[in-house]
Amino acid sequence: DSVAEIRASLLKWYDVNKRDLPWRRISEGEASDRKAYAVWVSEIMLQQTRVQTVIDYFNRWMEKWPTVHHLALASIEEVNEMWAGLGYYRRARFLLEGAKMVVEEGGKFPRSVSDLRRVKGIGEYTAGAIASIAFKEAVPVVDGNVIRVITRLKTISANPKDKTTIKNIWRLAGQLVDSHRPGDFNQAVMELGATLCTPLSPDCSSCPVSSQCSALLKTKHDPSALVTDY
Ligand code: ADE
Repeated sequence: DSVAEIRASLLKWYDVNKRDLPWRRISEGEASDRKAYAVWVSEIMLQQTRVQTVIDYFNRWMEKWPTVHHLALASIEEVNEMWAGLGYYRRARFLLEGAKMVVEEGGKFPRSVSDLRRVKGIGEYTAGAIASIAFKEAVPVVDGNVIRVITRLKTISANPKDKTTIKNIWRLAGQLVDSHRPGDFNQAVMELGATLCTPLSPDCSSCPVSSQCSALLKTKHDPSALVTDY
């Protein structure tokens, strides 16, 4: 069916086209929940900052504090100094407070969305990213890129800034996520939105799911169907 086709096409495309990013190089088998920690740090950095900028900050951070245990021993001054230039310093403080919380509660990284949500600064998006990418929980993630991809695939015309629309998109993303490779699937959708399914001129001729895209189909009689302002 079409959901299975979308999953297979996206994963196949991701396997060939995924960007080589430092947090993707850390394997799930490494000790001390390093993958979960790396996903957490990278996703928090990526929330307001471009990938190209994040790479250097991420590498320096992981060199100084390779595990959540190392980070928990840092001072707020050290953390702020490491963050200098990234902006929104609240994010750095939440990472430090979250690390302290994880270590105080036994040092084992929370594994499910509901447990992750209890950590300071971890919202629905970050919890979904860590649970799916590091622990293979079949949960969705929805950020701006995912909203645009799903809005186009399903031609949702409602305002994607409305709370109810976003809730609907989380629900659709949850139905779409691949249960065998949830982390890769989620990253594939984000990657598609970042590289091909861009706001102004999406590269539909290179898109792995163009044959499943209702917005593209609709452009045959409504040329504005792919136009978004987000
Ligand atoms: N943007 C934010 N997090 C991402 C990820 N894990 N993969 C691709 N794009 C992203």
